Amino acid sequence: MCGIFGYAGSKRSAADAVLEGLQRLDYRGYDSWGIGVVERNLHVEKKVGTVGRTTALPKSPIGIGHTRWATHGAVTATNAHPHYSSDRSFILAHNGIAENADAIKTTLQSEGYRFSTQTDTESIVRLIEKKRSKKLDLSEAVRSAFKELTGRNTIIVLATDGDIVAARNGSPLVIGFGSKSSEVYFSSDIFSCAPHVEEYIVLDNGQMATYRKGIVSVFDIQTGKKIRAVREKNLLRDVSVNKGKYAHFMLKEIHEAPFVVQQVTKENARKYRGLALAVKRAPRVYCIGSGTAGAAAAQIAYYLRVYGNIPATALIGAEATDYRNLIGPKDVLIAPSQSGETADVLEVLELAKKRGATIASFVNMPGSMMTRLSDYPFMAHAGPEICVMSTKIFVSQIAWGYLVAKAVQGALPEGIRRLKKTASHINVLLSDTAYMSEIARHGKRMSRNKHIFLLGKAQNLQIIKEGMVKMIEGAYIHAHAIAAGDLKHYAITLMEPGVSVIALVSDDDVKSDTLNAIHEVRARGAEVFGIAPQKEKGFTHYLHVPDGGETSAIINVVPLQLLAYSMAVALNNNVDKPRNIAKSVTVK
Ligand code: G6P
Repeated sequence: MCGIFGYAGSKRSAADAVLEGLQRLDYRGYDSWGIGVVERNLHVEKKVGTVGRTTALPKSPIGIGHTRWATHGAVTATNAHPHYSSDRSFILAHNGIAENADAIKTTLQSEGYRFSTQTDTESIVRLIEKKRSKKLDLSEAVRSAFKELTGRNTIIVLATDGDIVAARNGSPLVIGFGSKSSEVYFSSDIFSCAPHVEEYIVLDNGQMATYRKGIVSVFDIQTGKKIRAVREKNLLRDVSVNKGKYAHFMLKEIHEAPFVVQQVTKENARKYRGLALAVKRAPRVYCIGSGTAGAAAAQIAYYLRVYGNIPATALIGAEATDYRNLIGPKDVLIAPSQSGETADVLEVLELAKKRGATIASFVNMPGSMMTRLSDYPFMAHAGPEICVMSTKIFVSQIAWGYLVAKAVQGALPEGIRRLKKTASHINVLLSDTAYMSEIARHGKRMSRNKHIFLLGKAQNLQIIKEGMVKMIEGAYIHAHAIAAGDLKHYAITLMEPGVSVIALVSDDDVKSDTLNAIHEVRARGAEVFGIAPQKEKGFTHYLHVPDGGETSAIINVVPLQLLAYSMAVALNNNVDKPRNIAKSVTVK
């Protein structure tokens, strides 16, 4: 949800360095972008669309940039960041939502300040201007203005003298240092500057940093006191972010499913057992996530109920308001999150933390807020996921959740054994080119539908929901996941010739219920595309998946992801960057 980048150094042209950073950050938003550099004066270039090329920026050692996912104001070059101050003495880029922007604007307008964009960001710019007019230096003006903002905001400011000031409260911000600190990077994540950085600092909420003549200093925003920020070694320097032999990052990342499952089996058993103990002692356990991570959270809750015998509750981040008063000091919250920065989830976790609850997270992005907030921080170690649609991380999230549940059951080694087998089952599927072509064929056929229904039950219920998410996100086709047993209670009215239903069937104790639903569908003339270990009587079309027993769901999601991928490809959609969504959603 908007990416911020900054560069200061003598090695590279700032415009090039910032451009490269923004290209690696554009999963955070790609409706417009902009870069500003300082060369005597400030020069800014802003464009609509995904990060492209700059044409008008002079060579400069210092610059900042932004890639936007619009929240306030249309997608226009004017509304894109960075924004100039009225006297052009500084520019500012922003990630977040200044919730009191309108109130600030009204006050400032009554004092004579002029506004020319539709953004909330402009209120921050004008507020800093006002502070500066009271003779505060830039960093003090930023600090004072930032303290007045409500909401989750992170900003970066560049002044004509080459000073950079960045402040964080909510959205992420890291500061990377090149060799011998001759280069300094500011960014929304570490991956974007990882190839150039030896060490980095993760700013915490309520902290700000200044860059002046090669020196970076970190301060507490409330007190203004200097802080000794701990530098971490960058271990991601050689992590590659290319598509390799694959046509899209999505396809590459689906192919990494066996690897990510293996990764969760390598995690320290003591860590799993520690969390399992906390879960067993907790009066209430909540699993929370948003979007794809919401489906993963619900699957983790399912595993905890079935294998851990824990009455775990699944929550959607943005819809957890009614639970807020129910979260108590001994409760455990489990949050799978690719970014570790999802605002809807963070807000609930922060509240739970204040109440004394225990937080466990499973995150892929190093240095995230969720990790820092957690009593049990687990990392996916899955490598960067570039496609905006999450695939491999979903697989790793549910595999991890399965192991947590097996640890609660006291059967962690058995869980690890089963997961290793699962990884090799998935590997066999993904290495089978005939299988891949078969899915592509089905995908092409399914892409002609206006509506798609998905049926599943028990271990497959969240998997069909995730399949639904992928089809909506990638193919822009209306999909509707139905609990197989619930079909007869409502959606059966829609079953008629010409309707397509995808059914996930496993060899488990609810198989006959799912088959009943399939027969009900067929009896009304709709067609059923069955994904199952063997062909069943009601299937119109069939795709094989191996039976994985307890971990079947982790295998089943892969063909569904591939199907959604093939549909998006058949429709010529922008697979890795579907319209309107962002990968990291740091606003509510
Ligand atoms: C966005 C993304 C989804 C993701 C969700 C949660 O909506 O488009 O793919 O599942 O955020 O993100 P998280 O980083 O918490 O996994």
